[in-house]
Amino acid sequence: MKALILSGGKGTRLRPLTYSGAKQLVPVANKPVLWYGIEEMVAAGITDIGIIISPETGAEVQAKTGNGEYFGANITYILQDQPAGLAHAVQIARPFLGDSPFVMYLGDNLIQLGDLRYFLQQFSQQQPDALILLRPVANPTAFGVAEVDDTGNVLQLIEKPKIPPSNLALVGVYFFSHIIFDAIANIQPSTRGELEITDAIQYLINQQKHVVAHKLQGWWLDTGKKDDLLEANRLVLDTYMTASILGEVDAQSQIIGRVQIGAKSQVINCTIRGPVIIGNNCHLENCFIGPYSSIANNATLVDTDLEHSVILEGAKIAGIHQRIIDSVIGQRAQLTLAPRRPKALRFLIGDDCQIELT
Ligand code: G1P
Repeated sequence: MKALILSGGKGTRLRPLTYSGAKQLVPVANKPVLWYGIEEMVAAGITDIGIIISPETGAEVQAKTGNGEYFGANITYILQDQPAGLAHAVQIARPFLGDSPFVMYLGDNLIQLGDLRYFLQQFSQQQPDALILLRPVANPTAFGVAEVDDTGNVLQLIEKPKIPPSNLALVGVYFFSHIIFDAIANIQPSTRGELEITDAIQYLINQQKHVVAHKLQGWWLDTGKKDDLLEANRLVLDTYMTASILGEVDAQSQIIGRVQIGAKSQVINCTIRGPVIIGNNCHLENCFIGPYSSIANNATLVDTDLEHSVILEGAKIAGIHQRIIDSVIGQRAQLTLAPRRPKALRFLIGDDCQIELT
């Protein structure tokens, strides 16, 4: 069994964060989203992993993630030179995949850990040509959608249907036998100009191949937008966080609940109410850090109240008198109070930023 993780694309929905980096590297609980997928594969015993990268962000993904040694895996990078679709990504990965069955995993999706082993078992017991995962969603027109009969057989799959036949969306995890390559060779690009994996699976169904569907019980999040990213951060902190304090906390500070503080970080006169994760080499002084906050390495927070937010590497926040909530602050961004006159707001705001003032 091999794994193919997709980590290409432009990440337009997560701008401005993705102007300076890959959407798959945006951190959830201080860890790149992509790494959750890799760790999930390794935990299920799959160590031969191919990662599809794009010309725009491939070098960064590769530099950050490495050859797999850190994860106990062997990673092969495969360049998809144009965003020609999920099925195209599978097609170009053929030399890596060979005739092995494989799991395909969308690298910007976050799926509740632990489920993969169960579906792998189902796949090896039932030996279908494809096994797909479905989950009810509120907005099926934004996904690949399945129509299933009473016994769970897949009757039809449609990509981004205008009139969805059900609310069951294709989750970003698929299990395939090598038969999928024949299907991909027989489909045409969709109206968005991509070779859709949904169409390739529909081709298998048309050819009376064995396609089975399972419902995913755990949570599934696409981290492609700000609110989804905050929700992913909340769920991961809620589900997996354990307390560990490596940095220095002074006697005036109060640490409540599950809080992680990384090495060489300093916490002075702060109240931190978990679940909260703080990276390495951070400086926090006179702050309240409320639940569901992640603060990446090298961040500085002074005289700040923060809750349910994600602060990226090297950001600096100081002297803001109102509580900051539901926010994502980008790498090296600075949010400070200027003492100089006239008393006024001064901005240098990059493209596509969103600022809400009261
Ligand atoms: C892709 C697939 C779609 C699937 C979705 C899951 O959509 O084409 O069938 O439901 O991932 O995240 P895209 O993100 O390319 O719009």
